[in-house]
This record gives sequence, structure tokens and C-alpha cells, in this order.
Amino acid sequence: MRDAKAKLAHIDACLSPKSQYEKSAGFDQLQLMNQAGLDIALSNVSTEKNFLGQILKAPLMIAPMTGGVEKSALLNERWAKAAQHFGIPMGIGSQRVALEDHKKASSFHIRKVAPDVFIFANLGAAQIAQGMPAEQVQRAIDMIEANALFIHFNALQEACQNGDVDFKNLTKNMQKLCKHFSKQKIPVFAREVCFGLSKEAAKRFMDMGFSGIDCAGAGGTSWSKVEALCAKTERQRKLGFQFGEWGIPTAQSIENVRAISQSVPLIATGGIRSGQDILKALHLGADIASMAQPMLVAAHQSEQALFEFIEDLIQELRVALFASGQEKLPYSSLRA
Ligand SMILES: Cc1cc2nc3c(=O)[nH]c(=O)nc-3n(C[C@H](O)[C@H](O)[C@H](O)COP(=O)(O)O)c2cc1C
Repeated sequence: MRDAKAKLAHIDACLSPKSQYEKSAGFDQLQLMNQAGLDIALSNVSTEKNFLGQILKAPLMIAPMTGGVEKSALLNERWAKAAQHFGIPMGIGSQRVALEDHKKASSFHIRKVAPDVFIFANLGAAQIAQGMPAEQVQRAIDMIEANALFIHFNALQEACQNGDVDFKNLTKNMQKLCKHFSKQKIPVFAREVCFGLSKEAAKRFMDMGFSGIDCAGAGGTSWSKVEALCAKTERQRKLGFQFGEWGIPTAQSIENVRAISQSVPLIATGGIRSGQDILKALHLGADIASMAQPMLVAAHQSEQALFEFIEDLIQELRVALFASGQEKLPYSSLRA
């Protein structure tokens, strides 16, 4: 499921509402507190955030999605232009395909339209567990002039798609990789893709030496459902749907990571669907929030639709801050 056909099938599946969890990410159970009677002006409300030394105009990220096919080149370019315009970071989809076939690399080349954007490169944990050398990982970073690297953990998704399920040598290889890039001062983030992090998992990531975490949890896109929708056999489809609702909701996932580390840079992904969700995620302890599927839907429609979507999202966040009596975001980046 890693060829061009699979990449396109993933995009199509994610555009369908059937790819989404029925269960909630947990933000609907939280309420931002209305604050009447304050001396506050909407024009003074700031959504700026210091994240890994870069000032973001909003605590919002375009989550890693795709690359390797023509359609993903167009989508990556739209997201990159938007990230540059709105001053927000961006991830790209797994670059494994471009390391294996350099002709596929051009679909990841977003730096030309996003000269100032904080960009995350992306590779799978299975490849590191199976011994991908640091030099090859460096090639993925250099390919897109990335500022940081995501290693995605998607064991359940791999199992549902009959993919890479050998993680036997994960810890020692990951520790080696994290140490190598820590010396190069390149941040390496561990990221789930949507199944959330337990406290134990967060502790394992800290022990491996990751410099940051994306705790992507359940409540938005379900990658077991996506694999079910893309399955080539009935039995594979059945397996995917059996795990369709598996996962720790994103709100809980944030709290689990923060129970283990108060200071690790933390991105919250999975079912973030509004400006109010972003603010709730930050109140729970995330440094920034990140969105995939809604960014796909908007970018798939047009560049203008994407720009309007992000502008409205940031405006909703600003109004939520204003109405709850905050001129600034709840946490300054990186607690002591
Ligand atoms: C079309 C599509 C492709 C994706 N591909 C990747 C990928 O290659 N690597 C990765 O780390 N995450 C990938 N993701 C997962 C997202 O980054 C995100 O963690 C997940 O979809 C949950 O966020 P959401 O509920 O906002 O969609 C992909 C998501 C989408 C929608």
C-alpha cells in the first residue's frame, strides 16, 4: 500500500466522512469559561506563539499528509503557500517513497514556496527499527531543507494494511538516531498518527531521547477505517473496521503526555476541528494544535478555500480568547 495508487486511495478515503471516528476527541466535554465585564480589546488579542525558537503567528500546524504522486505535489504546494502566508508550521507525508525512488522527491519540494516555514521531514518508526542508517534519514531532511523530523508510529495501521510490523529493534535504533540528531541540533519528534499515547508510551518516547512529541489521538481521522476503506480483500476490510474505533482520545492523550513531562514540546493532532478546539488543546497542555483531514478537504477544493478556512479558524481562536478574557495564549512555549 505504498505505491502511487495507495497514496491516491488514502487521499480519496480521507475525503470521505466514513474515515472519521464516531467517538469524540474529548474537546466537546470541555467548556471554555465565558468572562464578562473585562477591560479587553479584540485588537489586542494575540495568537502568536514561540515554538522551538520560531515565532508562529498562530499555534496551528498543517499536519503531515502526503507526497510521492502528482496530486500530492499540488496539495503540498497549496499547504506550503498557506503555511508561509499564515506563519504556521507544516509537515509532509512519509518520504520513504522518495528515498527509494528519487524521481518521486519533487512532490515534496515545498521550500521554494515556503522559505520561512518551520517544516518537519517525515519517516516511519518501522524503517528506523529495521535499521535505516542516520545518513539516509539525513537525506530525507536535506531533500526538503527541513527544520525538524517526525518519526511516525502507526503499528496498528501497519497491521491493518498488512504492512511493516517488525518493531523488534525499535528502542536501541531509535536511541541511536535521537542521540545522533541531538548532536546535530535537529529536533526529532515522535508522532502517533491517530491512536493516541498512554502515559507508558510517553515515558518510552522520553527514554528514547525524542526532543518533542505529537500525541495524535482518536476523534478525527481513524487510520484503521482508512485502511478498511482502501483494503483489497474483504478480510482485510473487516480487520480495519474491527479496529475502527480503537484509540485514546486526543484530549486524554495530551494529559497523558503532560503527566510524564511538563516541558517536552507537545503538538496535539487528531480531531482538532475548530478554533475553540485549538484553545482547549492548549489549556490541556499542548504547545500547538495540528490538523490534517479538514486541511485536505479545503485544499482539495481550491487554494482560496484553504486560505479562507485557515483565516476563519484563526479568527475563531482569537474570538475564543477574547470571550474567555485572555489577551495571550494560555501557555508560553516550553514550560521550565
Ligand atoms: C491523506 C492523509 C495522509 C496522511 N499521511 C500521513 C503520513 O504520511 N505520515 C504521518 O505521520 N501522518 C499522516 N497522516 C496522519 C495525519 O497527520 C494525522 O495524524 C491524522 O490524520 C489525524 O488528524 P486529523 O483527525 O486532523 O485528520 C495523514 C493524514 C491524511 C488525512
